[in-house]
Amino acid sequence: MMESQQANRKNEHLSLAIASFKQAHTHHYFNQIRLIHNALPEMSTTDVDPRVQLGPHLHLEWPFYLEAMTGGSNQAMKVNRTLAHQAARHHLAIATGSLSIAIREPATRPSFTVVREEDPAGLVFANLSAGTSLQAAQTAIKLLHADALELHLNAAQELTMMEGDRNFHWIDNIKCLVKALPVPIIVKEVGFGMSQQTIRRLLAAGVRYINISGRGGTNFALIENRRSHGLGLPELNKWGQTTPESLLEARVIKDPSPTIIASGGIINPLDVIKAGVLGAQTVGVAGYFLNILIRHGENALDEELCRWQEEILRLLTLLGCQRFTDLSHRVDFVLQGDLYDYARQRKLI
Ligand code: FNR
Repeated sequence: MMESQQANRKNEHLSLAIASFKQAHTHHYFNQIRLIHNALPEMSTTDVDPRVQLGPHLHLEWPFYLEAMTGGSNQAMKVNRTLAHQAARHHLAIATGSLSIAIREPATRPSFTVVREEDPAGLVFANLSAGTSLQAAQTAIKLLHADALELHLNAAQELTMMEGDRNFHWIDNIKCLVKALPVPIIVKEVGFGMSQQTIRRLLAAGVRYINISGRGGTNFALIENRRSHGLGLPELNKWGQTTPESLLEARVIKDPSPTIIASGGIINPLDVIKAGVLGAQTVGVAGYFLNILIRHGENALDEELCRWQEEILRLLTLLGCQRFTDLSHRVDFVLQGDLYDYARQRKLI
């Protein structure tokens, strides 16, 4: 079957996320966080409980999950089937890519619903733009029997795209969606991070779950600039706050403090732990797992997910934390280099 222009874009995102992986990961910003060693853990690995409770409704078995990526093309369907199979096998939550194509082109819906078919009992998050209509959001939730809805904020990506949106009036819409929808709403960036001010505005709009999705991993400015062959906005290739910077921004917000999810450039289990120390209550991983799947196949992804789960148990033990959420109040850290300068100038430490 001939695929639409939007479906082709989904395929390009998959291939360009892989092709630009190395360039996007030249700096590993989590290296600028050092954790203080605890020589007296006073616990054993069997004491660790890796489960995370996000608000009253979302019970995760592990403190990381497969973050929003794809759907809408034949290739996306294959990727979603495998990711969902692995999510079910490892008891990990999973988010689909944006369902806007499924709303516009109903023939593409199986490439999303395959996630629920492969993972009937797991936590599945739907995903749409923050500008979506209430009706589209309801359809997306129903299609996936979704446990939560992610609303993405992707102004930097759209403005880099030749064919992208140019109007971004989102906050009132977000407010209405949070009130009207029956599932938790997670507002997320797509790899450009968030400031303290953005997070406060989301809180004031009634949002309780915020994924700061920062710079340092998949880079949609790079991806869209490659797609637009010189007609994009190359100045944005290094735009935005890194994931550690965004977590430091979020960390100073109290009463009410939001439920913070980290994503963007998380490529190993120690990053998951460091994100927890900086206040993340769970962590989303997209590009790194996609890269393993596409380059090395499903068995390699299966082994990698086992390794992450096992290492997270050992690292939590080393740090004397029975639960992931203990990290933020039990583990001290120091910041180095640019991250330290950033935190000082922004008065975050
Ligand atoms: C994404 N991401 C994404 N996010 C979103 O909210 N809706 C979407 O449709 C997509 N699509 C998408 C496609 C592909 C191929 C990738 C790799 C990523 C962004 C993703 O959820 C995440 O916020 C960023 O990728 C940063 O995390 P990583 O990739 O550095 O772990």
